[in-house]
Amino acid sequence: MKNLGILLSGRGSNFEAIAKSVAAGRIPDARIAVVISNRATAAGIETARRLGLSAFIIPSQGKERTHHEVEVVSALQQHAVDLVCLAGYMRLLSPWFVRQFPGRILNIHPSLLPAFPGLEAQQQAFAYGVKVTGCTVHFVDEELDHGPIIVQRAVPVLDTDDERSLSERILEQEHIAYTEAINIVFEGKFEIVGRRLQRKAACLGE
Ligand code: GRF
Repeated sequence: MKNLGILLSGRGSNFEAIAKSVAAGRIPDARIAVVISNRATAAGIETARRLGLSAFIIPSQGKERTHHEVEVVSALQQHAVDLVCLAGYMRLLSPWFVRQFPGRILNIHPSLLPAFPGLEAQQQAFAYGVKVTGCTVHFVDEELDHGPIIVQRAVPVLDTDDERSLSERILEQEHIAYTEAINIVFEGKFEIVGRRLQRKAACLGE
């Protein structure tokens, strides 16, 4: 049984999609061991409690980064977390945090990286006028929205779109992409060559 740890700061729809995938057996032999928010107001924490999951608020506000990270890492370790999933977690992880879970922290970002890193990626893409955008699930390294890419899903920008309709269609794809990426990582049949995640031959054509 693999233990997932979820870090979030807000709405928590990606977390909820992961929880549904776990419940439906689409992420086999896994459970959500803990959900942690750095913000007390995060709706995702309510959802986690409603689902009967271990859910904690570890406030970051007014706290030194190192102190907060030590608290979060120890909560993850206490719950024997194998894979940390950032799901709308509005904190940049320090190199120390990243080293505690080498190759075992994932993030989802609402653009086709390396385009439009940082905040409001959907609005950035819309304003730039790209015809295709999407979402990316990647390993977390020390840099923002930067580590090796695991899954990307493309979303066309329609003439009829506004920022909101585009964001909604990206979000639908995020919910699919995160489950795909977790399964790839748990199956472990890949290697990272430079920045490239290459799936091993047996997995191709699945
Ligand atoms: C998503 O768009 C995700 O890609 C980004 O933050 C947003 C979180 O949404 N990192 P939710 O809290 O999962 O609904």
